[in-house]
Amino acid sequence: MGFPYERPRRLRATEPLRRLVRETKVGVEDLIYPLFVRHGKGVKEPIPSMPGCHRFSLDALLQEAKEVWELGVPAVILFGIPERKDERASEAYARDGIIQQAVRELKGALPQLTIITDVCLCEYMSHGHCGLVQDGIILNDPTLELLSLTALSHAEAGADMVAPSDMMDGRVRAIREALDREGYSHVPILAYSAKYASAFYGPFREAADSAPQFGDRSTYQMDPANGDEALREVALDIEEGADIVMVKPALSYLDVIRRVKETFCVPVAAYNVSGEYAMIKAAAQSGWIDGERAMMEVLLSIKRAGADMILTYFAKEAARLLAKKAW
Ligand code: PBG
Repeated sequence: MGFPYERPRRLRATEPLRRLVRETKVGVEDLIYPLFVRHGKGVKEPIPSMPGCHRFSLDALLQEAKEVWELGVPAVILFGIPERKDERASEAYARDGIIQQAVRELKGALPQLTIITDVCLCEYMSHGHCGLVQDGIILNDPTLELLSLTALSHAEAGADMVAPSDMMDGRVRAIREALDREGYSHVPILAYSAKYASAFYGPFREAADSAPQFGDRSTYQMDPANGDEALREVALDIEEGADIVMVKPALSYLDVIRRVKETFCVPVAAYNVSGEYAMIKAAAQSGWIDGERAMMEVLLSIKRAGADMILTYFAKEAARLLAKKAW
C-alpha cells in the first residue's frame, strides 16, 4: 500500500484520537520514590545537585512519606546516612541503625505504603566501597554475610522488600537463604541485577556521602559497553531468587531494559538515577528545555523500553502532573 492510502497523520489529528492509539502510558502506580534518611531532628536538608530532593531526619521523613503516599505513589526506597562509618559497615545492620528506625516508623504510620530498602554497604563503610576491603581488594564472599545481615535487619524492622545494590556475586542467594531461614520467606527481593559503573551516580554519592575513597567500582559494577553480560547477570539473579530485576541507570541502557524484558518473564524495574535527574533539572533551570515535558518524555521512554516500574526522583512531580492530566 503506502501513500496516499496510508497517512499516519490521520490518527494524530486530535488529542482524544492520539490517546486512543497511544501504546505506552505512565501512571503514578509505576513509580517508586527514593528517600534519603539521616540522624537528627527537624532536618530537611536540600541536596544541591538534586533540586527538590532532601535528606530527612526521621520526623521530617514521616511528613514526606505521607505526602508521597497521598499523591498516590505506591512505594518508596530508603537510603541511609549513618552517624559513623567503619570498615565493617556496622551501622548497616545495627538493630537501631537509621534505616531500621525509619522502616519501623514508616510502617507504623503508613502501613500500606510499600517500603523498599536499599541493601548496600558503601554509605556505611569508611572507604566507601560496597564490600569488605583487604589490601585494596574488594572481597566478595566475606561481604555476603554482611549483606545478608543487613537485609535481615531490614526485614525484621518490617521492610516490605529488600533491594541489594552492591553487585557482589551470589548476594541474592545469600540474602534469600538468610531471609528464608529466619522466617521472612514472604519478603521479595528486588535485585539491582544489571548495575553499571556509571558516571550518572555523581549526585547520589554527594547525597548519600558514599563515594569510594580510593579507586572506583568497576571491579564489581558492570562495564557500560556490555549488553550480553547484563542478560547473564539477570539470569543468575533470577536463579538465585530475585523476584524483580533492575537495570540501572535507565537512559543510557534502554536497549538493555528491552532485552531483559524480552528475554525473561519477570517484572523489570529501571532506575532513573540521580545524574539523569540532575541533567534535566539543570537544563530546565537554565531555561534550556521544558523540564516538565522532558521529565514525562524520559519516564515514557523507560516504560516503552519495557520497564514495569521506575525508581525516580521525579516521582512526586510526575504524580502531581498525572493527577491533572493523563500521559
Ligand atoms: C549504592 C547505590 C548507588 C545508587 C543506588 N544505590 C550508588 C553507587 O553505586 O555508587 C545510585 C543511585 C542514583 O544515582 O540515583 N551502591
